[in-house]
Amino acid sequence: MPESASTLDVLPPHNLVFSDLHPACHDKRSDILSGLQNKQKSIDPKYFYDIRGSVLFEQITRLPEYYPTRTERKILTTNAKAMAECCGQDCVLIEPGSGSSEKVRLLLDALKPAAYVPMDISVDFLKQSAIQLAEEYPWLRIHAVCTDFAKQEKEPEGLPEGKRVIFYPGSTLGNMKPEQAIEFLKNLGHWLDRDGGVLIGIDMHKSTRVLEEAYNDEQGITALFNLNILSNINGLIGTDFDAGRFNHRAFYDKEKCRIEMHLVSKLDQVVSLDDTRISFARGETIHTENSYKYTAESFQDIAQSAGFDIRAGWSDERQLFGVYYLELQN
Ligand code: SAH
Ligand code: AVI
Repeated sequence: MPESASTLDVLPPHNLVFSDLHPACHDKRSDILSGLQNKQKSIDPKYFYDIRGSVLFEQITRLPEYYPTRTERKILTTNAKAMAECCGQDCVLIEPGSGSSEKVRLLLDALKPAAYVPMDISVDFLKQSAIQLAEEYPWLRIHAVCTDFAKQEKEPEGLPEGKRVIFYPGSTLGNMKPEQAIEFLKNLGHWLDRDGGVLIGIDMHKSTRVLEEAYNDEQGITALFNLNILSNINGLIGTDFDAGRFNHRAFYDKEKCRIEMHLVSKLDQVVSLDDTRISFARGETIHTENSYKYTAESFQDIAQSAGFDIRAGWSDERQLFGVYYLELQN
């Protein structure tokens, strides 16, 4: 059992091991500061996810405008058997960015994995989600790992033997630039033996109206999620951002096939971190997230550039979302 298994605050269910690799400790101050000192200020979207950010994301997934989650859930439910045939039974199913681990529930009965490995940066949310899943599925061996998946060059240590299948739903790949997405997939390829695979969810390019509504919901939950990044980094590194002095903005860039999310300064202001001052002009923005949308062809290009072939694919009637099964090229 990994030494950090004891970091659970409660006695873990018998079928759960929890390892905390403390991803928040890696150079976060210089990482965040360098983004805020660029000409186009930016913050890495991984900083959305403290416990409040994770809860807000869960609320987003249930919004009427946010079609990706319910569409992908339907694709997974309808095609679970065919997906299980690709993955094979008794695999070790690894989910980078597992969040609430809601979607894996749709596959578990068909897949009967030997073990499930949820990996997430949001430590408290990961703990809660893993405990709940372990209690609901007492037959399932769970090895939860709190880590930054982008820095995880090798698979986490201590996983059981068996064929590796990486489950990467939610179009989380879309939050990376295409060149980062290729590198990330290439790296995942190193976790797999020849027989392994990747079951991945991808949000598809579609009308600007549908896309912009999904990131500008009427209830303003996406705005709260976007603004929460400022409170999270205040807590992490001690900046003194006042979220009330920024507005949410999200738009679709059709040329780049990506939603961009920004925080727009409502006024001229200065934000401090110890002796460092960061000035904002009124209207200046912090770029907080890209969410790339793919066509079947553009995703195939990414997968192939990363060394994978697409073995199978599933979609919904309106082709809003795609789920693909990838294997390493021969
Ligand atoms: N897979 C789930 C959740 C997707 S939301 C689903 O499809 O519904 C994206 C998840 O990735 C969040 O839970 C977030 O905390 C996590 N995440 C984002 N960046 C991460 C990183 N660099 N390392 C680990 N987890 C990350
Ligand atoms: C996690 N990720 C794929 C979501 C997305 O749609 O890009 C995050 C999100 N941002 C705003 N709404 C949801």
